[in-house]
Amino acid sequence: MRTDFISTLSPIIKKAGEIMLSACGAKNFKQKQGDVNFVTEYDEKVQAFLIEEIKKAYPNATFIAEEKDNDSSAFNSELCFIIDPIDGTTNFIRDYKTSSISIGVFSKGVGVFGAILNPYLDELFTAEKGKGAYLNGKKITVSDKDLDQTIFAFGSSPYYKQELGEQTFDTAKKLFFACADIRRSGSAALDFCHLACGRIDLFLECRLSPWDFSAGAIIVKEAGGVITDLNGKELDFRIPQSILCGNQKTHKKALEIL
Ligand code: IPD
Ligand code: CA
Ligand code: CA
Repeated sequence: MRTDFISTLSPIIKKAGEIMLSACGAKNFKQKQGDVNFVTEYDEKVQAFLIEEIKKAYPNATFIAEEKDNDSSAFNSELCFIIDPIDGTTNFIRDYKTSSISIGVFSKGVGVFGAILNPYLDELFTAEKGKGAYLNGKKITVSDKDLDQTIFAFGSSPYYKQELGEQTFDTAKKLFFACADIRRSGSAALDFCHLACGRIDLFLECRLSPWDFSAGAIIVKEAGGVITDLNGKELDFRIPQSILCGNQKTHKKALEIL
């Protein structure tokens, strides 16, 4: 099995970023299941491009990707790629310029590589198991800020508004009073990257899907961060779940508060 993930996947994800950036003006979009959940032709184009190119480099690869039907048994295969072709589709439709492409790589269920690209800033975040996390090739680490100095980001789980809206905003309110300030970006994958390089110090969302957090979890861990669900339990990359991540101090204190 080839393991030169950075050199193989970087040009592929960057080319996919060009497809995203080639979209100009109004985008056609369709409604998916759940509240305010959309897909554009670019989500589909980027996903098709990534799967085709990755298959050329790794003929035995299996895929779990947001805009296709998935078989969760793929997760335990020799090499499984978990893909979010555009994370932050609503931002993308509105030209908010805060969206990303996310690829997590698992070998027999173990996370071995993650890459997240913000094509608007040409920022490529990567991490390989045991080798640290990088932004455009430069090593990054989480901050060492304490909770009272923390910039905390949260996702609003917009597709589960009725079910999780109260919990989301109760949690955000509690943490807002314990932290310095709060953000909501619209791309969970970028929230993980911003945590990994110390732009924020804590991130949570009450429900995310595996394609939202697979690459991000690897990047956060390799940057020295801690990532669990909101109860402090280890993540299961096969199912949707809550996410809490921070540096050692903020993760621990946030868990105590919640
Ligand atoms: C969404 C974004 C958003 C988060 C949602 C995700 P999508 O991903 O990451 O920030 O709040 O929970 O589903 O649908 O744009 O790929
Ligand atoms: Ca997503
Ligand atoms: Ca998506």
